[in-house]
Amino acid sequence: MHTPALTDTAAFKALQEHHATAVQWHMRDLFARQPDRFERMHVRAAGLLLDYSKNRIDTDTVSLLMSLARERGVEALRDAMFNGEKINFTEHRAVLHTALRAPENVAGAVVDGQPVASEVHAVLKHIRAFSERVRSGTWRGYSGREITDIVNIGIGGSFLGPQMVCTALRAYAHPRLRTHFVSNVDGHDLEEVLSRVDPETTLFIVASKTFTTQETMLNARSARAWFLQHGKSDDLARHFVAVSTNAAEVAAFGIDTENMFPFWDWVGGRYSVWSAIGLPVALLVGYDNFAAFLAGAHDMDRHFREAPLESNMPVIQALVGIWNRNFLGSASLSIAPYHQWLRFFPSYLQQLDMESNGKRITRDGTPVTTLTCPAIWGDVGTNGQHAYFQLLHQGTDITPIDFIAVLKPSHGIAGHQEALLANCFAQSEAFMRGKDADEVRADLQAQGLPEAELAALIPHKTFEGNRPSNTLLLPELSPHALGAMIALYEHKTFVQGAIWGINSFDQWGVELGKVLAKTILGELQAEDAVQASRHDASTSALIALARQAAQA
Ligand code: F6P
Repeated sequence: MHTPALTDTAAFKALQEHHATAVQWHMRDLFARQPDRFERMHVRAAGLLLDYSKNRIDTDTVSLLMSLARERGVEALRDAMFNGEKINFTEHRAVLHTALRAPENVAGAVVDGQPVASEVHAVLKHIRAFSERVRSGTWRGYSGREITDIVNIGIGGSFLGPQMVCTALRAYAHPRLRTHFVSNVDGHDLEEVLSRVDPETTLFIVASKTFTTQETMLNARSARAWFLQHGKSDDLARHFVAVSTNAAEVAAFGIDTENMFPFWDWVGGRYSVWSAIGLPVALLVGYDNFAAFLAGAHDMDRHFREAPLESNMPVIQALVGIWNRNFLGSASLSIAPYHQWLRFFPSYLQQLDMESNGKRITRDGTPVTTLTCPAIWGDVGTNGQHAYFQLLHQGTDITPIDFIAVLKPSHGIAGHQEALLANCFAQSEAFMRGKDADEVRADLQAQGLPEAELAALIPHKTFEGNRPSNTLLLPELSPHALGAMIALYEHKTFVQGAIWGINSFDQWGVELGKVLAKTILGELQAEDAVQASRHDASTSALIALARQAAQA
């Protein structure tokens, strides 16, 4: 089906016209004019609250954005996704991470005529049984000792999700178990983890959808060699399990397919933490907590599917992002979780959002006519405040921020939670209000500064404000709330992809580098001299220098 260029749609044109007026607004005035702005511009779903009132929008902006979502067919595409249609058409695949968290008794998606629920729940039962055996100490290492360390070997979606979730949910961790993540092909990564674990009590999970990813397979082979060398056993079966869609490669690696946890090609790597890729989570926090994590995501799925667009949290979050990106021209989105255990959430979102929507070709095969995905980056508050917030407050770019605050901490140290939240709320207030020249002047006068010095300082101490942010509130960092939050961002990404008219579910852009790396690896390892003419002068010189260093 032909989708018109985004810039040709009536709704986009109406928004462009509206922007000519909106660009003159200051949020201070919007708040002053509309005392119930928070009431009108917040939404609750699945236990979360999204406050989007500190954006440069009014109710007209919101309704024009809603028209855009309707004109771009967001609802039809959403239903097609949930129903199992092959919306990832460049790979001929359905997109059904939502089916991974649907209860068994809910009539669910069908792929190629087959309902997927029974397969999904069979694997969940396997995860439950296995995680209970490891946690209870029934599953033991070759010498009879209990498992103490779980090493997940995987990269991209086979790493970022489990690492982020295991870190976020550490309040629920089994006291005997520690999780480690090896992702980088850089041997320092594997070496560091292996130096901390004992072969007798370590369980390796080789996690790879394809089971062919260079980094993961090299790390897995090296871990296997280490185990065979340092362990006093060749009982790989007790120490290596796999999570994959590729049973043949798993068997070829030497892992008993009894100890393989399958998933399916309709689960994208960056959407796979809900599948067996979440095995480290189930092992660490227990199956019931893993189930609560799935239930939180399912609650957000239901909300996304059923709530009218006007009160639909992922839709609103996506549309505000479209406004900031396509009309206010922001180049990036900063993620600021005010919770130490959410420290990997920004990097998780980098893959989710940028691998999904970092595209310039529409579903029709023509170039887009607007900007698409902004760069996603960030760090935990309050650390970011003392590093890059200066640029966010007074730099030349307008960078919207997603503040994420958790109302109930998992620690009991007095005074810290209030200080943390005070900083979070103060930042969003400062970005919105700013501090104008009159306010700065009054402050400096109160300090008794002479007029000449005061005049020189005013421009430096002035904050223009009017910088957009959202604040997302979680009641606590529970499995349910975390599941709901991740699903929120997944659906936000989906809605933005639908509006831009791109396929959010393939990732051809990572292929070229992979192919070239294979050629260069061969050249770095070759005995004979390398033919310089195969590459440009820079690449040839770099290869030659690396070969010289290796031979020195
Ligand atoms: O980076 C590309 C990619 O295909 C990601 O989409 C994926 O999450 C990652 O590589 C790892 O892939 P696999 O799970 O197949 O090893």
